[in-house]
Amino acid sequence: MNEKQTYKLTAVGLGPGDPELISVKGLKALQNAEEIFFPASKVDGDQINSHSLKIISTYELKGKLTPLHIPMTGKNREEMYDAAYELIKSSVLEGKKVAVVSEGELLFYSTFGYILRRAQRDAITCDCIPGIPAFAHAGSAGQVSIVEGEESFKVLAKPATFEQIEKELQEEQSLVVMKMKFLKGWPEFLRKQNRNFVYVEKLGTTEEFVCSNPDEMEGREIPYFSLILFTR
Ligand SMILES: C[S@@+](CC[C@H](N)C(=O)[O-])C[C@H]1O[C@@H](n2cnc3c(N)ncnc32)[C@H](O)[C@@H]1O
Repeated sequence: MNEKQTYKLTAVGLGPGDPELISVKGLKALQNAEEIFFPASKVDGDQINSHSLKIISTYELKGKLTPLHIPMTGKNREEMYDAAYELIKSSVLEGKKVAVVSEGELLFYSTFGYILRRAQRDAITCDCIPGIPAFAHAGSAGQVSIVEGEESFKVLAKPATFEQIEKELQEEQSLVVMKMKFLKGWPEFLRKQNRNFVYVEKLGTTEEFVCSNPDEMEGREIPYFSLILFTR
C-alpha cells in the first residue's frame, strides 16, 4: 500500500427490506460509488440470491454491482470473509469509490463486521452509514414500544432450544429473537407463554407478514428473514 495515500471505503446499511427505508446519506453514497459490493448467499452464473441486491436494484445506480459470496452456513467462514475482503480491498487500492452494503444495520449480526475488522487492520478508512435494524422495524410494524423509560431489553440470535427463550422470558423485559427459523414448534411454544409478542416475516418486502397471535402462525414455514419481539 502507498504510505502517503489514504484509502477509503464507504459502508451503507440498507434497512430491513423496503428500499425507501435507507437513509438519505446512504443513498447518496451509493449514487456516488463506482463499485458496490453486496453479500449474496448464492452466486451461480446469473443466479444470485441476495436480499441486499433486491433492495439496491430498485435504485438508479451507475456503479458496478459485485456480489460477495457468503453462504448462510458452512465451514471456513474466516477464509470466506478473507476472500470477500480481498475483492473489496483490491478495488479500494485501485483508487475507486467503493461502497459495501449490508441489509438492516451494518454492524448488527452483519457480514460487514468481519470486513470492517480487516479494513481497520489495513488502515483503510471506513465511513459507516448506519441502517435501520429489522427489530426496530418490527416495533413499528406491530405498533408497540420496544422499551420505555429505564427498561432494558435483550436480543437472542439462533437460540438452540425453547428452554433458552423461556428462561429469558422470566425477566420482565422485552426480548428479540432473531434467526428463529431453526427452532420448530413456535405456535405451541407461544401459546404456553403469557407474553405479548409481534412476529414478523420479510419486513419491508411484498411478502411481509406481521401477527401477534400464535394461531395465525400455524402451518406457516418460518423463513430465514423472520424475528419475534416479545414485549413486557
Ligand atoms: C444476519 S442477520 C441480519 C440482521 C440485520 N443486519 C439487521 O440489522 O436487522 C439476519 C436475521 O435478521 C432478521 N431480519 C433481517 N431482515 C429481516 C426482515 N426484513 N424481516 C424479518 N427479519 C429480518 C432475521 O431474524 C434474520 O434471521
